Amino acid sequence: MSKKISLLILVVTMLSLSACSDSDKTGNDKETAQLLAGEQLAKKNCKACHGQGINGAPIIGNMKMWGPRIEKGREALVMNAFSGYGLMPAKGGNESITKEEIDLVVGYFLSELEEQ
Ligand code: HEC
Repeated sequence: MSKKISLLILVVTMLSLSACSDSDKTGNDKETAQLLAGEQLAKKNCKACHGQGINGAPIIGNMKMWGPRIEKGREALVMNAFSGYGLMPAKGGNESITKEEIDLVVGYFLSELEEQ
C-alpha cells in the first residue's frame, strides 16, 4: 500500500516537473523565434547601414558604439528608429515596416550585444 502511494507521488512529481520544463521551453522558443524574426527584418531593412557603420550607424554587436545608446532603454531606441534620429532615417527608410517589427529588430540588436 505505501509502495503504491510513493509510486503515485513519484509519478505526480515527474508530471509536474515535465510540465514545468515544457513551459520554460515554450518561453525560450518564443524568444528564439522573435530574435530570428528580428534578424531577418534587420537583414532586409537595417544591415546596409548597421552592418558596417554607414554614416556613423552603430554597428550590430559593437558594444562600444551601442553602449551610450542602450542606456536610453529599449523603448526610446525603438521610438527613435521609428521616427528618425540624426542621420538615421525614419523606419530605416522602409515606410511599410511597423513599430512592432522595429521592436523585434532592436531586440535582436540588443541580444547581439549580450553575447559578447
Ligand atoms: C540609411 C542608413 C540606415 C538604415 C537603413 C538604418 N539605420 Fe539605424 N541608424 C543610422 C545612423 C546613421 C544612426 C546614428 C544616428 C545618429 O546618432 O545620428 C542610426 C541609429 C540607430 C539607432 C540608435 C538610435 C538612438 O537613439 O541612439 C537605432 C535603434 C537604429 N538606428 C535602428 C535601426 C533599425 C531598426 C533599422 C532598420 C529598420 C535601421 N536602424 C536602419 C543609419 C541607418
